[in-house]
Amino acid sequence: MGGGEHREGREGRAQTVEFTVYDCTDSTAVGTAGLFQIAHAYGTAEFGIAIGERRGQGLGTEATRLVLDFAFNVLQLRNVLLETLEWNVAGLTAYERAGFRRVGVRRGAVMSRGRPTNVVLMDAVPEDFGTSVLR
Ligand SMILES: CC(C)(COP(=O)(O)OP(=O)(O)OC[C@H]1O[C@@H](n2cnc3c(N)ncnc32)[C@H](O)[C@@H]1OP(=O)(O)O)[C@@H](O)C(=O)NCCC(=O)NCCS
Repeated sequence: MGGGEHREGREGRAQTVEFTVYDCTDSTAVGTAGLFQIAHAYGTAEFGIAIGERRGQGLGTEATRLVLDFAFNVLQLRNVLLETLEWNVAGLTAYERAGFRRVGVRRGAVMSRGRPTNVVLMDAVPEDFGTSVLR
């Protein structure tokens, strides 16, 4: 994974870090992943990711884990939040394998596929994370 972009907020504090996700087998760019709403004062951020054509090959899991590693071991954040739709099994699987835990469900909070859909709230903390590859 590479190609990070770091945007600064109005008060000089980082708000967003976005990475391009590469498949290292052939150096093809396959998606993006990043941290949003970064609040250094609280040690928090939100996570987002989208993989294009090469889904289901482990790239989402690996990219999620690398972004969490960056969040905890470079930015020194304490908690990263994630919201995903209940039907997104690929996402839930990848996120849990990468270190997120389910912390709640917001019931019927989004219209998706024509019906009210539960939103699964997940978070990740450094205590659960394990070994860093970034330090
Ligand atoms: C969610 C997303 C990032 C996951 O990335 P990915 O590269 O596909 O994830 P991985 O391959 O690492 O892991 C997905 C796992 O879910 C499994 N999976 C996928 N669809 C599944 C389904 N319908 N039912 C059960 N398991 C499923 C895959 O087989 C894989 O598990 P495995 O490695 O044991 O086979 C990617 O699918 C994506 O970008 N989706 C569209 C955008 C999106 O949903 N973004 C997130 C919004 S919160």
